[in-house]
Amino acid sequence: MLEDIEVDLLLEGIYRYYGFDFRNYSRVSITRRISYIVGIEGLKTISALQDKVLHDRKCMERFLLNVSVNVTSMFRDPSFFLALRSLVIPILRTYPFIKIWHAGCSTGEEVYSMAILLQEEGLYHRCRLYATDINERVYVKLKLVFSL
Ligand SMILES: C[S@@+](CC[C@H](N)C(=O)[O-])C[C@H]1O[C@@H](n2cnc3c(N)ncnc32)[C@H](O)[C@@H]1O
Repeated sequence: MLEDIEVDLLLEGIYRYYGFDFRNYSRVSITRRISYIVGIEGLKTISALQDKVLHDRKCMERFLLNVSVNVTSMFRDPSFFLALRSLVIPILRTYPFIKIWHAGCSTGEEVYSMAILLQEEGLYHRCRLYATDINERVYVKLKLVFSL
C-alpha cells in the first residue's frame, strides 16, 4: 500500500537526518499519529510531511511533540509492579547501590510509583532514579514537579 511506503520513507528520513528512530514502533500506532500530524500541519500526504519535516526543524520539533502518546497513571500496569515486587526486588536487594532509568517517563507517574514501591521495600535510600522522555512538553512538567 502506498501509505506504508510513505511511512517507511518518512521514518527512514527522520532516522537518517535527525537520528530519532521510530522505525520499530507499533505500525498501527505510529501510522495513526503520523496521519494526525499530517492533518494539523495542514498537509495532504505523508510524503508532503516528509518534505516539511526534513527541511524545517521547527516542523520536526512539532513532530516530536505530537508523535508521542503520553498516557500514564500511578501503578498503571499492576501486573508489572507485582512481578517487580516478587521477582526483581529480591535480586535488587543484593545490590549495594541501584540505578533505575525510566526511558519514556511521560509526566512521571511511573517514576513516583517506583519510588513508593522502593520506599515500601526499604530500598529507596540505596537508589537513584533517572527519568527521561523524548517529549519536552511532558518532561518539563516532570522536572518542575521534582524540583518542588
Ligand atoms: C504511553 S507513555 C508511558 C509512560 C510511562 N512509561 C508509563 O508506563 O506510565 C510513553 C512515553 O514514552 C515516550 N517516548 C516514546 N518514545 C521515546 C523515546 N524514543 N525516547 C524517550 N521517550 C520516548 C513518549 O513521549 C511517552 O511520554
